[in-house]
Amino acid sequence: MAETTDARTKLQQLQERRASILRHGGEDKIEAQHTKNKKTARERISLLIDGGSFVEYGAFVKTRSTYYGLDKADLPTDGVVTGVGTVNGRHVAVYAQDFTILGGSLGEAHALKIVKIQDLALQSGIPCVAMLDSGGARIQEGIDSLDGYGRIFFRNSRSSGVIPQLSLILGPTAGGAVYSPALTDYVIMTRKTSTMYITGPAVVKDVLSEEVSHEQLGGGLVHNQRSGVAHFLANDDEEAIATARELLSYVPQNFRELTPKEQASDPVDKEDLSLRDIVPADANKPYDMKDIITKVVDGSQFLEVHRLFAPNIVVGFARIGGRAVGIIANQAKFMAGVLDTNASDKASRFIRFCDCFNIPLLTLVDVPGYMPGTAQEHGGIIRHGAKLLYAYSEATVPKVTLILRKAYGGAYIGMCSKYLGADMVLAYPTAEIAVMGASGAAEVIFAREIKNADNPDEVRAARIQEYKDQFSNPYRAAERGSVDDIIDPKDTRWRISQAFDALENKREIYPEKKHGNIPL
Ligand code: HXC
Repeated sequence: MAETTDARTKLQQLQERRASILRHGGEDKIEAQHTKNKKTARERISLLIDGGSFVEYGAFVKTRSTYYGLDKADLPTDGVVTGVGTVNGRHVAVYAQDFTILGGSLGEAHALKIVKIQDLALQSGIPCVAMLDSGGARIQEGIDSLDGYGRIFFRNSRSSGVIPQLSLILGPTAGGAVYSPALTDYVIMTRKTSTMYITGPAVVKDVLSEEVSHEQLGGGLVHNQRSGVAHFLANDDEEAIATARELLSYVPQNFRELTPKEQASDPVDKEDLSLRDIVPADANKPYDMKDIITKVVDGSQFLEVHRLFAPNIVVGFARIGGRAVGIIANQAKFMAGVLDTNASDKASRFIRFCDCFNIPLLTLVDVPGYMPGTAQEHGGIIRHGAKLLYAYSEATVPKVTLILRKAYGGAYIGMCSKYLGADMVLAYPTAEIAVMGASGAAEVIFAREIKNADNPDEVRAARIQEYKDQFSNPYRAAERGSVDDIIDPKDTRWRISQAFDALENKREIYPEKKHGNIPL
């Protein structure tokens, strides 16, 4: 009887301890968090994880740091909730920093909890999702917090290409806190409530005498639009977490697996006559490449990555015939879809992510070239543009390319042409595959004739037309085998789907090496 009572008392003690852990940093801190339109760490986890599937690890961990009496302070979870649960029925490892506890700052115990969950994710081959809301290195813990970041960065890097890693920035992240997200595959930021910077406005003012607000320096919009550090911009925590769930649906658990195939929402062999009318034959007329994408993919569902950064190229995930694919497409609507430094970086990183995780690549081409001029040359267009060549050449996943209209010069090669390893190259009858556009070409190769002519305008026009007749079409390329087939636009969906079906078991042996050296 006494034993039963004792066991009950112990159970009660456990329940009390758990209840105290669930109180975060206290009612006032939770309220402050809610007033800022931010959720608590546990609310965020319950939005991410399928109902009831979350199991917490290390809830009882406390700091052992004696600096400034930290060990005597009540810091439940040491400011980070860690565990495992399912998203869309598949396991993920997750950690969520708790701003209500010393501003989510990262001390030794906090870091070791994150490390444990990272190790578990890596060893079990499941994605790792981080939800950050932190004042950075816990100042009181000095070297222990700095080393904590070192351990986390090390694991982020070692896990890269093995498991997908996502970071959601849901509050401030400063100093060390920004580099772990930067090492992960995707960064999702909230518009008004998140910031990322290596050092805040106060230090910027001190060092550079520059006045800048938190948001101007490192807000969600800045990092989505200008720096390219973030890939998604959400209005609030709910939207950010919903984006993470959607993103996870397109990726496999690890590099050895394939993304589960879903039932296609509409038939793949459906003809779509409206596709004949989207791409204007006039190479100078803009149109929206996303109109093509949404007509070709299942259920018009396209998850665009980096939507606000380098909009001259579009990248993102969709399904075709139920199979997840990564799409890279020149956007004729912005700067005629030219490839510049940012577009090259954006596409290359996306291609490498897809290749790491066995996601086939669909490339839609309408590109006038690499962007010329001093700004781009001095900005390193050669170095950045080379990344695209490298990323496509290195990728061993099935690669299908469709040339819709312009495919000129180096950019034709760079947008996954046959000899960068495309397995299937299709072209519309409107495709123009040439070293450059007709008027530019005529100005070079017929320059002397035009200059010496009595009627230079007429000669120029005639030569341009002659060049167009010869080169501004896909037939030369098809004769050489650089294009595998020229298709009626109405058949786009089933021809792409058929190509991916045929390539399903593609295996490519890579030359033996430690790793390559992409021009960073
Ligand atoms: C310890 C911290 C902390 C930190 C915040 N807190 N940051 N405690 N170490 N780094 C505590 C505060 O003292 C406060 O405690 C609580 O968290 C909430 O912070 P507030 O300042 O009241 O909140 P808010 O006004 O919302 O401002 C949030 C903030 C600000 C912008 C993040 O706290 C801030 O600027 N913190 C310092 C950021 C920073 O410089 N971190 C170090 C980066 S260096 P109480 O008890 O009052 O609630 C770094 C080096 C690593 O990370 C490099 C590795 C490569």
